[in-house]
Amino acid sequence: MTENGNALDADLRVPSCERCPALVASRSQIVDGVGPTDADLLFVGEGPGANEDERGEPFVGRSGDVLDDALRDAGLARADVRITNCVRCRPPDNRDPTTEELANCRGYLDAEIDRLDPELIVTLGKVPSEHLLDRSVAITSESGTVVDARIADASRRVLLSVHPAATLYDRSQRDGFFETIARASELAGVHNRSDGGSGQSRLGEF
Ligand code: URA
Repeated sequence: MTENGNALDADLRVPSCERCPALVASRSQIVDGVGPTDADLLFVGEGPGANEDERGEPFVGRSGDVLDDALRDAGLARADVRITNCVRCRPPDNRDPTTEELANCRGYLDAEIDRLDPELIVTLGKVPSEHLLDRSVAITSESGTVVDARIADASRRVLLSVHPAATLYDRSQRDGFFETIARASELAGVHNRSDGGSGQSRLGEF
């Protein structure tokens, strides 16, 4: 149990939660983080959309396809990293989560971060960047920046990124997004470990 009373099970899942009436009404299910519970690289998005709500997994729609492509381009697979969201239930009509909803879910996110203790957190978009850094963020100009921030009772390294969906609206952001994800892999020292479990980097195979 964390300080503010949020319990996660052994796989970092939220067993049940009814804190946000509007989200309880709009969700089909709670969408927990996925990926290794000891991952060195943690991606944090805003909240589930329709696809995620249906499938119960973060970033499985079009944004998720972009993220998967960028990970692959960086020599990583989804299974090498952990992916989670600021809120775990789909907001109605895909609106942004409210300040209260973000606060209600914060204990779960902090507990997840505390358990992983990742080398690097990558914030995907303005909402998670502002939420975790507790300041306003001009995400387009700050994307690619690394900062240290106090999160879940420790100093954490955070790499800010635009949301993968931004590359769908504005194709010119794609290269920058891919570069940021490649940089994340380098900074976290994460290489492909879903290659049969050898734990070797792809470079090590040559
Ligand atoms: N956008 C997010 O921020 N999170 C998801 O899980 C999917 C889309």
